[in-house]
Amino acid sequence: MEARVFTEEQEALVVKSWNAIKNNSQELGLKFFNKILEIAPAAQQLFSFLKDSNVPLDQNPKLKPHAMAVFVMTCESAVQLRKAGKVTVRESNLKKLGATHFKAGVAPEHFEVTKLALVETIKEAVPEMWSEAMKNAWEEAHDQLADAIKSEMNPSA
Ligand code: HEM
Repeated sequence: MEARVFTEEQEALVVKSWNAIKNNSQELGLKFFNKILEIAPAAQQLFSFLKDSNVPLDQNPKLKPHAMAVFVMTCESAVQLRKAGKVTVRESNLKKLGATHFKAGVAPEHFEVTKLALVETIKEAVPEMWSEAMKNAWEEAHDQLADAIKSEMNPSA
């Protein structure tokens, strides 16, 4: 895989904004999901815990873990990207992530939805820090992680 550049400044932007918002994970998780469903309402059907649920979104206890996984992994990925020049999620974890998403019926296009939702959620959480450079840093970290997961999303995984 081609090694893309991720600078110290980009890492700092991701880490700084993440540190400012991570203690508010309940609200972040809810906002993130609301955005996903606004952009792609049909995505609700992919999540086993939302499919047949009558529990209002803001009371669903399972919502936060996936949102946090996406946020935390993207942030960690940013740190590793700078250090190693590539995504270094452990091979076994990547295979499992690929398999989980493949089996859940996630399509490569869905990653564009979560990316938009991720960036919008952070933007709204830290309007005073937000910049084009911060947006680009999160997008780059996200894309590299998403590409790694997508490469493991196939029937043989
Ligand atoms: C499950 C992370 C993107 C839908 C999971 C799990 C993790 C995770 C850690 C649970 C682990 C497991 O059971 O193996 C991520 C990361 C993403 C990402 C880091 C992007 C960088 C997406 C996207 C979708 C999606 C784009 C589709 C909208 C799901 C679904 C499950 C899942 C449906 C199974 C949840 C369930 O029904 O219990 N994801 N995910 N994920 N993810 Fe993602």
